[in-house]
Amino acid sequence: MTTAIAHATVSRQQSAPPSNVIDAGQDFEIRALDAPLGAEVLGLDLSRPLSGSDFARIHRAHLDYHVVVFRDQRITPAQQVDFSRRFGPLQVHVLHQFQLPGHAEVLVVSNVVENGKPIGLGDAGHFWHSDLSYKEKPSLGSLLHARELPAAGGDTLFANMHLAWDSLPAELQRTVDGLYAEHTYLARYAELQQRSPWRPNLTPEQIAQVRPVLQPVVRTHPETGRKALFVSEHFTTRIAGLPENESRDLLEQLFAHSVKPEHVYRHQWQPHDLVFWDNRSLLHLAAGCPDHLRRVMYRTTIEGDVPR
Ligand code: SIN
Repeated sequence: MTTAIAHATVSRQQSAPPSNVIDAGQDFEIRALDAPLGAEVLGLDLSRPLSGSDFARIHRAHLDYHVVVFRDQRITPAQQVDFSRRFGPLQVHVLHQFQLPGHAEVLVVSNVVENGKPIGLGDAGHFWHSDLSYKEKPSLGSLLHARELPAAGGDTLFANMHLAWDSLPAELQRTVDGLYAEHTYLARYAELQQRSPWRPNLTPEQIAQVRPVLQPVVRTHPETGRKALFVSEHFTTRIAGLPENESRDLLEQLFAHSVKPEHVYRHQWQPHDLVFWDNRSLLHLAAGCPDHLRRVMYRTTIEGDVPR
């Protein structure tokens, strides 16, 4: 179920636009989802140039709803890259094996194996995480475009980490605010390799790109000023300065609290959806689908700030 929240573009609201207007917008709606986060965009065509005012509406919706679902986008990988770049520089994933040929900025997320070789990262998102939180500058946001969807399964879940912070008991808030935690890409890599025969061994160069970093356990969103929990079961290994058992216990509490059902939106993909989420506000998880059903998605990832 959805709630209409906005209609018509700026240009539509003007009675008689002058003939030399070059910022003419498209006629599209942004509707809030009936969920703890998320909005869908209907009637916008991202294969067409996006005016400054339309971009501003999308940017605002991204900050307000944290997930923006653009329905029915028949876009090329180059158009996805161009649109993503409007929000910042793009990040190239360390697993270069799964870049889309000709588009280093596009990570193929897929369970498809062709001629004995996987075409993409088959188990991306198997654990709750925020993209690239193991980098000094984690991702601002990611865009995932549905190219081929399975007949069953394949959902993506998002947890609202602002709500997770707001609803954390005050005593726990006081305990964790100001702490730092280590994030590392390698935290569960061996475990994932055991599950998925296709996860490649990393070269020394790849390992050097993903050295552990310390991140604040509670971060402040650089654009909205809202606080959010910033730990995940995938990449966060320990809280700095605490004995191992205390750190483990605290992290387990935070992980469990973060993904309570009341913080979560489950996205059931429709053909040609392009989903744009805010990694500064959310964790996400891929629910998975049966191996024999093809799922092919293209992901772009935008670089963000150093978390504070
Ligand atoms: C990801 O974690 O980026 C992949 C999410 C998905 O495939 O649903």
